[in-house]
Amino acid sequence: MPNRTLLIAGNWKMNNNVAEAAKLADELAQALPEVPAGVEVLVCPPTIDITTVHDRIQAAPIALGAQNVYWEAKGAFTGESSCDMLKSAGCTYCIIGHSERRDYFHETDESLEVREAGTYVEHVVNQVKAGLAGLEITCPKQVVVAYEPIWAIGTGKTATAEDAQEVCGAIRETLKEMFGEELANGIRVLYGGSAKPGNIAELVAKPDVDGALVGGASLKAADFASMVVKAGE
Ligand code: PGA
Repeated sequence: MPNRTLLIAGNWKMNNNVAEAAKLADELAQALPEVPAGVEVLVCPPTIDITTVHDRIQAAPIALGAQNVYWEAKGAFTGESSCDMLKSAGCTYCIIGHSERRDYFHETDESLEVREAGTYVEHVVNQVKAGLAGLEITCPKQVVVAYEPIWAIGTGKTATAEDAQEVCGAIRETLKEMFGEELANGIRVLYGGSAKPGNIAELVAKPDVDGALVGGASLKAADFASMVVKAGE
């Protein structure tokens, strides 16, 4: 079986002002002076907090990501940030197309909604095909796909590990069709939706679940650090 590095990614969403972000980042750096072999850790704070968090975690084995990016390089796009800006602030990852962006900020995939009448697996497969269409990758680490059933986000209801595997496995098959077996076998597919210390181990025990995108539980350093440790056990 391919040996993928697990990714435990914290999505802080719109939480933590600069002082609060600094505190949480310090707590995380303290709680995670090292991470288990085979596990990578990422935090995605709000854009306004990125520089502060970068300063606080730079000595820790924690990567930094943004929650949104605009595709143009520069110009008159009020309120947006470019890839270059995020990279220059220390980001190596960015969440793109989160379901909250789709719901509240019109990042829709309309042509697909028409087809939504099919099963949930088909729906997700179609979202992956549309979301990654035209993407050229040379290394599997360039893409991470997060499967998050919307009914599980922030609700405390987690999909069973079997349900997560069913959809993550279907995503892997789709990635194979799109990018070929070798690249697809190296791409991380995460589960998200009320992932927490109590369920992370069973989720990542599934063959196609390569970590988690963590909202609520990433706002408490102890919970998030515990997830990282449990993922590595
Ligand atoms: P949650 O959020 O862990 O709070 O359910 C996950 C996400 O939406 O990224």
